Amino acid sequence: MINKTFFKEFPVLETNRLILRKFTLEDAKEVQSMRSDQRVMKHMDSKEHLSIAQSEEFIKENLNTYSLEKGIFWAITEKNSGAFIGDFAFWRIDSKNFRAEIGYTLNPAYWGKGYMKEAMDAALAFGFKKLNLHSFEANINPENMNSRKILERTGFKKEAYFRENYYYDGRFLDSEIYCLLERDFTPRKA
Ligand SMILES: CC(C)(COP(=O)(O)OP(=O)(O)OC[C@H]1O[C@@H](n2cnc3c(N)ncnc32)[C@H](O)[C@@H]1OP(=O)(O)O)[C@@H](O)C(=O)NCCC(=O)NCCS
Repeated sequence: MINKTFFKEFPVLETNRLILRKFTLEDAKEVQSMRSDQRVMKHMDSKEHLSIAQSEEFIKENLNTYSLEKGIFWAITEKNSGAFIGDFAFWRIDSKNFRAEIGYTLNPAYWGKGYMKEAMDAALAFGFKKLNLHSFEANINPENMNSRKILERTGFKKEAYFRENYYYDGRFLDSEIYCLLERDFTPRKA
């Protein structure tokens, strides 16, 4: 069984340089700024956030999904400054199969520092060890090199390539599906 206690008390995660905490509506401004940045949205294939109100809605939906025990959405913050730098999600928890799909986004000012790898290692370790998940899935646009790199570094293996299965913004896009079992998990050594 999945450990449901984490849906009663939010699982705050701490790493060397980061704290992953629950979202609040106060984060909307930073979310909007990140999710309207073309560098971030280039391969996300989802709508950019045009207003803070739209980001508030996004946060509310995420909090609701958590309250329904179907997902966990972390705001990633820098420990030293307290700055909001990105998000990490188990956004589709499939309890029956002990599996979740992940999603992640980082403000470009913080790319290239290993921050997302650090956040991902902590979230996946939590997922396997505490939440009792068995596997993770990630779905990427094949052109998303940065995303593929972090998945491969973490031990994810490509299990599928779907041709033109995703219709977005008037185009049919290909998808790559990556999966991780705990025995293939390669967190960075501290
Ligand atoms: C995907 C994304 C989160 C990756 O961010 P990132 O900063 O490149 O990821 P990492 O945390 O793994 O950092 C790795 C880089 O930091 C470097 N680095 C610097 N210091 C480091 C440290 N202490 N530890 C580890 N890596 C470090 C690595 O060498 C690596 O650089 P490289 O890419 O030139 O090889 C980011 O590109 C992003 O937000 N993209 C837009 C949103 C998106 O597409 N999300 C995924 C949708 S599926």
